[in-house]
Amino acid sequence: MSEAAYPPVTQHLSDPETAREEGRRKMDWALQHMPILEALREEFTAERPLEGETIAMAMHVEAKTANLVELLADGAAEVAITGCNPLSTHDDVSAALDAHDSITSYAVRGVDDEGYYDAMHAVIAHDPTITVDDGMDMVKLVHEEYPGLIDSIVGGAEETTTGVQRLRAMDADGELKYPVFAVNDTPMKQLFDNVHGTGESSLATIAMTTNLSWAGKNVVVGGYGKCGKGVAKKAAGQNANVIVCEVDPRRALEAHMEGHEVLPMAEAAEKGDVFITTTGNRDVITREHFEVMKDGVLLANAGHFDVEGNLEDLADLAVDRFEARDGVEGFELPDGRVLNVLAEGRLVNLAAPLALGHPVEVMDQSFGVQAVCVRELATNGEAYEPGVHDVPDDLDREVAEIKLAAEGVAHDTLNEEQREYMGSWEHGT
Ligand code: NAI
Repeated sequence: MSEAAYPPVTQHLSDPETAREEGRRKMDWALQHMPILEALREEFTAERPLEGETIAMAMHVEAKTANLVELLADGAAEVAITGCNPLSTHDDVSAALDAHDSITSYAVRGVDDEGYYDAMHAVIAHDPTITVDDGMDMVKLVHEEYPGLIDSIVGGAEETTTGVQRLRAMDADGELKYPVFAVNDTPMKQLFDNVHGTGESSLATIAMTTNLSWAGKNVVVGGYGKCGKGVAKKAAGQNANVIVCEVDPRRALEAHMEGHEVLPMAEAAEKGDVFITTTGNRDVITREHFEVMKDGVLLANAGHFDVEGNLEDLADLAVDRFEARDGVEGFELPDGRVLNVLAEGRLVNLAAPLALGHPVEVMDQSFGVQAVCVRELATNGEAYEPGVHDVPDDLDREVAEIKLAAEGVAHDTLNEEQREYMGSWEHGT
């Protein structure tokens, strides 16, 4: 393993020992509710499928992720990890991870851009054979600055929609030089994590950060994809009036048929009390929208990057900026209106000071898929060409079966005649 110039997390903390204990407590709590990772841990510990692999990870370093990281180490991998967002790391969890003999954690909360990328370079200095990303920053850095590593990298796995979109764009340009699994796109991930996880945790974090109620509020949801659907559904369940802004006519129609009001942002801007963007796109809310918003609105983002609301536009308009609460910055406009930005416009459910990310059960599923994908790369990686790959369906099913067994839920299976019938074109009336 190469020596990295940027120090691991413990050298950034004043009391690493206390931090480690607290981080371990958080991980232990989460693990009690992660039956999939527990089941895989037994298998990984016994069979050591990741022997000889070095895994470079850039993910949100909090308790659930930490249990995935330890699972990979239990599978006999060396792991180096850093954050995939400057604000989503829990330093105590990062310290607890770093205490493991086979894990080095460089993740520290609140780093500037330079620290963020220094840590990522430090992870890559471990000479990975597998990458695990949330947002694709690691794959990009490897390709741009460490092309010499590509031949020894067997493959990667990508956690989120924005990362998969970026990878597909890279693949289309012929620039992606090793195989990467689109973990985000599996049923076990996106039907639960994107919808329920983002919905529940974004609303819970906004409520905790502001101490305000949803009831009777006009909640504007930017984007009615998987995440937006979850946010809209949960907000409606909290007695808010949901307004959806969409660019895709099918999704706008779906929102309409679900009973939500659908408006262009130019009109929604005047009506909203709370704005939550979930598009994976940029400039969904810009100057013209800020100019007509009501006094006191809340502006939150749940998309991967902090560009969905154009905060430069808002800063230009503002005559004053102040910390209204922990995790809430007030922008005062010339006429005295104040627009409140949560978590610096970064993904609110992970970056706000009180944020805990998705519920544990949901991440057990997403990270179960990550773990079996890493196992597949380590044991069968040569079967995959460079490019973005769907996760093989049997791996996704394996994770679902483990979860159902843990929940004590039995389900039906196809018999031979049914299987044959479903695979045939010859039957008619
Ligand atoms: P998706 O592709 O299912 O949905 C995005 C939707 O936004 C699409 O319907 C699209 O038509 C719409 N859209 C795009 N540009 C728009 C615009 N200018 N105005 C209005 N609508 C627009 O993607 P998904 O899975 O919902 O992910 C959305 C974002 O959330 C991504 O950045 C993803 O990485 C991130 N994400 C965040 C999570 C979190 O914990 N906060 C968890 C999972 C994903």
